[in-house]
Amino acid sequence: MLLLLLLPLGFATAQQVQTGEFKTGTNEFLLNGKPYIIRAGELHYSRIPMAYWDHRIKMCKAMGMNTICIYTFWNLHEQTQGVFDFTGQNDVAKFVRLIQQNGMYCIVRPGPYVCAEWDMGGLPWWLLKKKDLQVRRLSDSFFMEKTKNYLKEIGKQLAPLQIQNGGNIIMVQVENEYGTWGNDGKYMETMRDNIRAAGFNKAQLLRCDWSSNFYKYKLDGVVNALNFGAGSNIDDQFRKFKEMNPRSPLMCGEYWTGWFDQWGRPHETRNISSFIGSLKDMMDRKISFSLYMAHGGTSFGQWAGANAPAYAPTTSSYDYNAPIDEMGNPTDKFYAIRDLLKNYLQEGEILPEMPTNPEKTITIPTINFTQTANVFDNLPTGKQSEFIQPMEFFDQGWGSIIYRKTIPACNTKQKLIIKDVHDWATVFINGKAVGKLDRRRSENTVEIPALASIARLDILVEGMGRVNYGEAIIDRKGITEKVVLSDGKIDTDLKNWTIYNLPVDYNFQTKAKFIAKPAAGPAWYKATFNLSAIGYTYLNMSSWGKGMVWVNGHNLGRFWKIGPTQTLCVPGCYLKKGANEIIVLDVDKPTTTVIAGLDHAILDVIGKDDVKQVKAAKSLNLNGINAVSTGSFSAESGWKSVDFDEPLSGRYFCFEAMSAQDENDPSTSVAEFEIIGEDGKAISSINWKVVFVDSEETIKAANGADKLFDIQESIIWQTKIGDKTKHPHQVVIDMGKEMKAKGFRVLPRSDKIKLGVVKEYRFYFEKKPFKF
Ligand code: GLA
Repeated sequence: MLLLLLLPLGFATAQQVQTGEFKTGTNEFLLNGKPYIIRAGELHYSRIPMAYWDHRIKMCKAMGMNTICIYTFWNLHEQTQGVFDFTGQNDVAKFVRLIQQNGMYCIVRPGPYVCAEWDMGGLPWWLLKKKDLQVRRLSDSFFMEKTKNYLKEIGKQLAPLQIQNGGNIIMVQVENEYGTWGNDGKYMETMRDNIRAAGFNKAQLLRCDWSSNFYKYKLDGVVNALNFGAGSNIDDQFRKFKEMNPRSPLMCGEYWTGWFDQWGRPHETRNISSFIGSLKDMMDRKISFSLYMAHGGTSFGQWAGANAPAYAPTTSSYDYNAPIDEMGNPTDKFYAIRDLLKNYLQEGEILPEMPTNPEKTITIPTINFTQTANVFDNLPTGKQSEFIQPMEFFDQGWGSIIYRKTIPACNTKQKLIIKDVHDWATVFINGKAVGKLDRRRSENTVEIPALASIARLDILVEGMGRVNYGEAIIDRKGITEKVVLSDGKIDTDLKNWTIYNLPVDYNFQTKAKFIAKPAAGPAWYKATFNLSAIGYTYLNMSSWGKGMVWVNGHNLGRFWKIGPTQTLCVPGCYLKKGANEIIVLDVDKPTTTVIAGLDHAILDVIGKDDVKQVKAAKSLNLNGINAVSTGSFSAESGWKSVDFDEPLSGRYFCFEAMSAQDENDPSTSVAEFEIIGEDGKAISSINWKVVFVDSEETIKAANGADKLFDIQESIIWQTKIGDKTKHPHQVVIDMGKEMKAKGFRVLPRSDKIKLGVVKEYRFYFEKKPFKF
């Protein structure tokens, strides 16, 4: 009986390798010649401690999945250029074999670019040492050669596990959502060919894109999936795709179960009923899917990435509001999915019982820190540099960096202008903090007090996650260009720096000399805590400032008092009975040096001072300004384009929603907004800033006005939930410099909810700032 169950999976025995076949037929996938609907759940081996891999795979099966979808992360495997590591926690082939042992198939997505809220979208930081680096383009032969080499190494690990070789890999994805980045079919053909050359020459190849951009390039021999989020209108999503690909099987390559959290913004959730509704729609239409994420886990250490524009680093918790929570336990969403999918199993398939979590949950006793080490008393050997440079040019991948020099006496206040801070800086004069700069808010200037004598200037910059999506992905850390000291008359470009690198490696943290004295300023804190039993647990970091934590040498990730995540997750397998060591590096400062243990996460508490409303107590004055375009949009989904009569120049624009599609609806929502340049392409929004918005939801949900140009089509700007204020609703954006435009495009929200979808509008385009 057991053998019979395993046979269709191409189970390998010592004597005989049972191979299989998976390919696309007309409008369907075929597994060993029979129609097959993929019900995949995405898991990332890097976000789950190895000890729990098997449990999480079993949880997916119990939820109703028949396949596990994985990314492989180039920067995890090649942390040092030319040195590959596929051992232990990085043993991706072992993960895939475990999936097979659990009687499930696997879809592999080797990138090389993967996005995934992972540092630099999976690309290694050392690429950034090349000054003129370009990524995801044929024109950079260095990038192309290194990606080819990486794919070859992945091929050595995983190509033997293709189903045709007796393994369980049914599909291999080429690149990731390339349509959101470019339209160079040749680049994608090269990536496809490199994947085949790496040994994936039997498996069905796959690509994924969005319904709004899949047609931007062609890629022969590769089946195309579309990605979209909870609550999407399935017919809308696939309408154009079906017209253009009438014989292709349909698949949602990533059906977003929840969403990731960003520092300083509300916790993201996706409601179960709209999520289940669209999943049912897919099942009823026999559409294959992959749940992104089935279980998110944790982006331990420095691995969490960021989005831009506007720069928004991702939290270390990757709970994702997924059906299986960060600790591996089922949520209500899990049971709702299991309940739905039991009605859609393939013939002969049985939904297994839920596995037991191998780790129980514990609460560890409160930890008091008495041992400290000031950062400034424990600096490593400095390096000299004439120019300011980011950390990559000092061979540092992650962490903090200090730029030090002396500056002359000055009897007036001065300004220190830093271009650009990546990502969070404190400026010190003679060891005393005089200002802080936060890249999320595009801050760049600190006031320096009058200096009676020559003074020591220190700029401590902490690098957060590298941007993993969009053109801001070339994201070096530290200070990227220059530091200028200005007394109002003369601007001096500061040169001749001493540089101190503070990497994230555990070894480096242990070098500090700890003493039993309270710390002043940025510091390490060390303590020992004793456990009689181990298990999954959380550390409450809410009384701490900003930094990282290492437990028994494991880097748990980042904390930041602004939230929404206030806890750090500690997997039981990182703990031991008896004495455990904990080191905290706080680059800001704690209010109390105590960590309370918790048995649950706090994912949704934003620091009080951090809910930034762009709207001040002002209202926009449009008197005497003429709209350059007025009109009315239809109710259909998809982009709406507006052409001006002739190209126009401007720097500031105002989009004014005059009414909604439903005349009784007072709200406004917009998913994306693009200004179209003379060449017909969208003008980069990388330097855009919201100057004004009359209403935005930044508390109950992350729907602020900057979501208009975050290039994430599923994330919207909407007026405050429950705001009864009538139309018009206005948003004003500064593009950073004057641009010539021939029109604009607006994308309405694409979920089933139609609240706020704009009907009549006015558009203003000015060279000078608007008046208030
Ligand atoms: C896209 C990417 C994924 C991930 C999700 C958002 O679909 O392909 O890697 O970034 O968005 O979580």
